[in-house]
Amino acid sequence: MRWQIRQAVLSDFRWLVRVDSLAENDDDRRTQIAIAISKGQCWVACDAGDPAVPVGYGCLDKSFFGEWFVPLVIVSNAHRRCGIGRKIIAHLEHCSSATKIFTSTNMSNTPMRQLLAQLGYQSSGVVENLDPGDPELIFMKVLDE
Ligand SMILES: CC(C)(COP(=O)(O)OP(=O)(O)OC[C@H]1O[C@@H](n2cnc3c(N)ncnc32)[C@H](O)[C@@H]1OP(=O)(O)O)[C@@H](O)C(=O)NCCC(=O)NCCS
Repeated sequence: MRWQIRQAVLSDFRWLVRVDSLAENDDDRRTQIAIAISKGQCWVACDAGDPAVPVGYGCLDKSFFGEWFVPLVIVSNAHRRCGIGRKIIAHLEHCSSATKIFTSTNMSNTPMRQLLAQLGYQSSGVVENLDPGDPELIFMKVLDE
């Protein structure tokens, strides 16, 4: 498969809700996705041969103390471990044109932590008390080296 990343359009919404199992039952997540699409802050990954069907998505905004931030990266269960998550984050880094970029994940999220380590992100702090017993780890990558 040849994966391509493109900006999300409104018609992607119904696919992204399927890609993201949390969104199926979580109104707030669906609203978050819809707002990101409408603001031009969402990018999707598709098979180049089937560009209308996203298999993953990522969002980029400046919601973290005014800094570039990746609040969400999700790849469908069926397409994990094919390099799509890596490709989405690399694309978001490029889109930011920033000198540094932040993201975060739960301490328990080994796949995301491994992905960030592979992409050269460094630890940038811990936020307790969001999810009980599962601290939120903040990561940062310098992009202008
Ligand atoms: C985290 C997530 C986006 C990774 O997407 P992915 O497309 O499967 O990741 P990639 O295939 O690009 O993996 C790149 C690297 O990340 C690491 N990685 C990914 N999944 C992993 C897993 N299950 N266990 C350990 N390491 C993993 C590996 O280092 C991997 O490189 P390798 O395959 O060469 O060993 C995906 O697991 C996901 O959607 N998880 C649920 C949503 C989520 O937790 N998002 C992050 C917080 S918003």
